[in-house]
Amino acid sequence: MTLERITILGSGTMGAGIAQTAMTSGFATTLYDISDELVQKAKSAISDRLEKLVEKGKVDAPSAAAAKARLRLSSNLADAVRDADYVIEAIPEKIDLKREVFAKIEAAAPSHAVLGTNTSTLMISAIARDLTDRSRLIGIHFFNPVPVMKLIEVVMGPDTSPSAYAATLDVAKRMGKETVKVKESPGFTTSRINALIGNESFRMLEEGVASAADIDKALKLGLNHPMGPFEMVDLVGLDARLNNLRALYEALKDPAYKPSPLLEKLVAEGRLGRKSGRGVYRYDAKGNIVPDA
Ligand SMILES: NC(=O)c1ccc[n+]([C@@H]2O[C@H](COP(=O)([O-])OP(=O)(O)OC[C@H]3O[C@@H](n4cnc5c(N)ncnc54)[C@H](O)[C@@H]3O)[C@@H](O)[C@H]2O)c1
Repeated sequence: MTLERITILGSGTMGAGIAQTAMTSGFATTLYDISDELVQKAKSAISDRLEKLVEKGKVDAPSAAAAKARLRLSSNLADAVRDADYVIEAIPEKIDLKREVFAKIEAAAPSHAVLGTNTSTLMISAIARDLTDRSRLIGIHFFNPVPVMKLIEVVMGPDTSPSAYAATLDVAKRMGKETVKVKESPGFTTSRINALIGNESFRMLEEGVASAADIDKALKLGLNHPMGPFEMVDLVGLDARLNNLRALYEALKDPAYKPSPLLEKLVAEGRLGRKSGRGVYRYDAKGNIVPDA
């Protein structure tokens, strides 16, 4: 059967980006969050981004209008998933919360709907634990910013069905994304490596090996990374990175993943990255880095 409606749960950084990508790729799209206010806020942010793309000539006005018309908002979980062919969960990285939400989705979504999770670190089998049919659950791991980043890591749990995999490849292809197939393991491929590089960068900064700007410059110009590790963690969110490291450290028991004390300190001070105006770097209202006073 044709996969037409995608329902996205969670309208934060990732959920809003996934919704925008689904809408512009021609999918009927439902975006759900726990309040009307949150989904409305995400809708405005998506509209603003589409307007900017029109201004820059990257999207034509009728296509942007058609994309906007494909979006439906909901703050009622059962309603949001009732007619979904594919559900993508992008709620906070907390195992109990994800299990609870998937149990509700399983009860309310059509039986053919594939259940995808955008988790960056959790095991698919752990999230699927309380489902009656675990073969429906698959990892569909997007990257931030979703409309720009080309990759989706498709993460297979031990029970994930070939049909859930095939449907995920179909979604990825229609969204214009490339995929890699990964067996579930802590941090999959990308988060496991990225968390390690990020953590080591904070350690070097703490040891006074080099400044943040020079560590970023070294990785960009010496190792050909498109972004420095501090530029990246400011984009991803220091709190998100800290959560990932904690989960990886617990799962892999490797001290290399023990979160750097400097990262812990910055998060405790509310320096969460671009979203809070200050992370490793300080940002002005337009998102430009400004030197510390
Ligand atoms: N930020 C990233 O770069 C990134 C990249 C890949 C994957 N992820 C993963 O994506 C998921 C979401 O991350 P994010 O950065 O978008 O988080 P976020 O905090 O920006 O957004 C989470 C959203 O979920 C909503 N929410 C909370 N409880 C909910 C519930 N019970 N039902 C529905 N929505 C609920 C929140 O209101 C919020 O809008 C996490 O699992 C994260 O690990 C994040």
